[in-house]
Amino acid sequence: MLRDISNLRKSYSKNSLIDKELPEDPFFLFDIWFKEVSSKNSKSEVNAMTLSTIGLSGYPNGRIVLLKYYSHDGFVFFTNYNSNKAISIDQNNKVSISFFWEESERQVIIKGVATRTSDDFSTKYFNSRPKGSKLGALVSENQSSIIKSKDNIVKKFNELSKEYLNKEIPRPNNWGGYIIKPIQYEFWQGGENRLHDRIRYTHNKNIWQIDRLSP
Ligand SMILES: Cc1cc2nc3c(=O)[nH]c(=O)nc-3n(C[C@H](O)[C@H](O)[C@H](O)COP(=O)(O)O)c2cc1C
Repeated sequence: MLRDISNLRKSYSKNSLIDKELPEDPFFLFDIWFKEVSSKNSKSEVNAMTLSTIGLSGYPNGRIVLLKYYSHDGFVFFTNYNSNKAISIDQNNKVSISFFWEESERQVIIKGVATRTSDDFSTKYFNSRPKGSKLGALVSENQSSIIKSKDNIVKKFNELSKEYLNKEIPRPNNWGGYIIKPIQYEFWQGGENRLHDRIRYTHNKNIWQIDRLSP
């Protein structure tokens, strides 16, 4: 059966990207956009981003992770180092992250190279997490592996809750962060009649080359 959803269509008109207002360094534009969307969308997860990896299979894999820190040095998320995404990154550390901020009619795509954050950095962030999330990380020891049922992990969660009732939960060695150092950014601002603004920054010989792309 052909389900016709071809009438799902939106017009974009909220903003534009003006060449002479573009900063030389894309980090500053990301920072401005991120602050704007966070202040306007307090209820949505504006730090949710699609992390795309390509392991040895050659197929791209995309999934949402949460951006937890960003700076000139890169973009940081946390995960399980035994997960599929971590295996993919071990095989090929060239990744992409992308954000879609619907309310602002904006998309940002960043390509870069992922490396693990230091143990100290991961531990510091792990310690700041709510107890339930820490236990969850302990329970899902091998994220992405096949499990027989949910019952076992709920049971394990309950056992660990008792075990750590009055104890600090240590960061598991197989849980930590990745930092993605960007080599390319693309900023997309929806425009009227599909005349969107697309500005690409490419890091080239220590400067950011700026190009406008056809929408
Ligand atoms: C809103 C949202 C936020 C998520 N945040 C994270 C995260 O920060 N880290 C993480 O490992 N998985 C996160 N996930 C789960 C991942 O999308 C994914 O299911 C999981 O990491 C396993 O991916 P993998 O098998 O490709 O490694 C999040 C999912 C959603 C929908």
